[in-house]
Amino acid sequence: MKILLSGVKPTGRPHIGNYFGAMKQFVDLQNEYDSRIFIADLHAFTTTTDAKQIREDIIGVALDYLAIGLDPKKCLIFKQSDVPQVTELCWLFDCITTMPYLMRAHSFKDAEAKNKDISVGTFNYPMLMAADILIQDSNVVPVGQDQKQHVEFARDTAEKFNRIFGETFILPESLILENVAVVPGIDGQKMSKSYNNTISLFATDEEIQKAVMGIVTDSSGGIPKNVYAMHSLFKTKEELDQIYSENEGKYKVLKDLLAEDIKTFIRPLREKRAELEKDLPNVLQILKENGEKARAIAEIKMKEIREKIGVSLY
Ligand code: ADP
Ligand code: TRP
Repeated sequence: MKILLSGVKPTGRPHIGNYFGAMKQFVDLQNEYDSRIFIADLHAFTTTTDAKQIREDIIGVALDYLAIGLDPKKCLIFKQSDVPQVTELCWLFDCITTMPYLMRAHSFKDAEAKNKDISVGTFNYPMLMAADILIQDSNVVPVGQDQKQHVEFARDTAEKFNRIFGETFILPESLILENVAVVPGIDGQKMSKSYNNTISLFATDEEIQKAVMGIVTDSSGGIPKNVYAMHSLFKTKEELDQIYSENEGKYKVLKDLLAEDIKTFIRPLREKRAELEKDLPNVLQILKENGEKARAIAEIKMKEIREKIGVSLY
């Protein structure tokens, strides 16, 4: 079986953009691949240093993964910090990567454009991600469009390392679903935690209703573009064509129909998550056991790498 790997950062509640863009694929593909899905907790430190929050959000993502249907019997569910070998490998990648190359990263350019004091971790982010991917010999990496370049960086880094130290890494490929590559938020921009335009994946009915009513509608009449775009996650084109032609110009009616579809979709996920939350020791046990397995796999690879780079003497 080919190896699939992906991760989500524990930085607040996931939204339906995360789900349709990336997380749904984790579930859909877990029978076809040797799947390894992790919580990218070390990456989260580029945007937070709140230890209590990180702890809560790690457990949060673990619950999210289980609630959407990832099965720990089929899929390795672990947290990144349980595999410290990735930081060792990241250092080696740093040493064979140049600064001008990393300056091309969209994530770095975005951070720079916001004119923040950029941390070395933010700059270096793609190399830690490359280490996550390459240490597990991953073949495919399901992500949303915004992570495509990062996976290309991992691929380039694998090629470079192989050229310098000999064949070591598989070249990974991103797996992006074109129709949901960029899910729009309630303001029509890309849905993102950073833009405050999300519908949370485990939102209450009230939260869903409020968010949908807040969707920005264009004033051109007829079909409200942003409402339609979000609706297409839940209904087929044929179903939508009928609904939108029957209710042309009736924005409130269309929004109510969309809100109902989102509620129907989210309700069972929310209930499953609440159920899982009642037994947190079980969730922690899953993370612990899987973390040990992921670490053992990474250590075998790291031994090979240490040999290749010449530091294994005994
Ligand atoms: P955010 O931008 O909200 O902070 P993350 O960076 O945590 O989201 O992304 C987690 C995963 O979800 C990544 O694979 C990313 O590509 C995907 N993703 C995030 N936002 C969207 C979106 N609006 N549409 C499609 N995929 C998305
Ligand atoms: N950078 C990804 C994000 O922001 C999270 C991530 C970290 C990841 N390491 C990864 C995704 C390895 C796929 C593979 O969403």
